[in-house]
Amino acid sequence: MLSATNTPSFHIGSVPVTGRALLSPMDGFSDLPFRGLCRRLGSAMSYTEFVSCIDVLTDRHDVGRRLTYEPSERPVVFQIFDDDPARMLEAALRLRDLGPDILDVNMGCSARNITARGAGAGLLQTPARIAAIFKTLTARLELPVTGKIRLGWDDASRNHVEVARILEDNGAALVAVHGRTKAQAYGGRADWDAIAEVKAAVRIPVIGNGDVRTPDDIGRLREHTGCDGVMVGRAAIGNPWIFAGLERAEVPGEEVRRVMLEHLAAMLAFYGPEHGLVLFRKHAKQYISPYLLSNELRTRLLTAVRPEDFTALLDDILQGAPQAV
Ligand SMILES: Cc1cc2nc3c(=O)[nH]c(=O)nc-3n(C[C@H](O)[C@H](O)[C@H](O)COP(=O)(O)O)c2cc1C
Repeated sequence: MLSATNTPSFHIGSVPVTGRALLSPMDGFSDLPFRGLCRRLGSAMSYTEFVSCIDVLTDRHDVGRRLTYEPSERPVVFQIFDDDPARMLEAALRLRDLGPDILDVNMGCSARNITARGAGAGLLQTPARIAAIFKTLTARLELPVTGKIRLGWDDASRNHVEVARILEDNGAALVAVHGRTKAQAYGGRADWDAIAEVKAAVRIPVIGNGDVRTPDDIGRLREHTGCDGVMVGRAAIGNPWIFAGLERAEVPGEEVRRVMLEHLAAMLAFYGPEHGLVLFRKHAKQYISPYLLSNELRTRLLTAVRPEDFTALLDDILQGAPQAV
């Protein structure tokens, strides 16, 4: 829930954050429509999808749209990825003009095309480079610079505590920890003990992340680790109510309909009528996942081309289908 008072829960540098749970940055998902929706339902701040510094400097791959935000989303965090300190600074100085509250460096992406060039989780193999990046960025930027890490490259080279200390020693204002190694990608279990080790090792705030599926998990991760905030990734897709403290099974069909249509309308406005519904399908698939539906009805909904057909089918589904969760 949004805090009844405006008393900050913690600070990132001088930026106050009110609330403890927030939407994870997710490529292809944490765009303006979804971030805004989660923020309205209680997510404490907004991380953009990551952007490549090369793309920032060459203005390619939709960078402008990925970094578009509403003032009501603040605090807004722009997340960048790269492995070259000088280029990252050049990109950051350019991004500063767009008014983010915080700049975050991705050190968690496990995609091969990014780690192969030493960026994303690839950086975890070169701690000296991480130090150089943070030293360079924090020396020149007034806004807080933060990092999102994994536990290490693989089990044999877990270095989360070392990396978190490097971030702190080089001016970072927060570290977010996804409790898996790069080798785990998104499988296996997130190690909350390791997040607790980071929290015990640094004075800057720590956000814990990994395997939070219910509102209770948010409290459990905080209790287990002492972390300041909790990021929710996959479990928020199709279930933004997690930020309002609601179990998915508690959300009435009428509220599901209202939020889905609000989300769809925001997607149509942001991406245009042609792409908005197509891009909404991956969200819709998750929104309807708790319902027992025939394959035929599910396919008709997820392939509808006109928003009005989608809405009519959705009404059929929400009125007729028993919820399975
Ligand atoms: C589709 C998808 C896209 C993601 N994109 C990003 C990203 O752009 N930046 C980032 O730091 N993490 C990204 N992540 C990782 C999530 O932020 C998060 O660390 C991870 O999913 C673990 O949290 P969860 O168990 O709550 O999903 C992505 C994850 C998914 C599933």
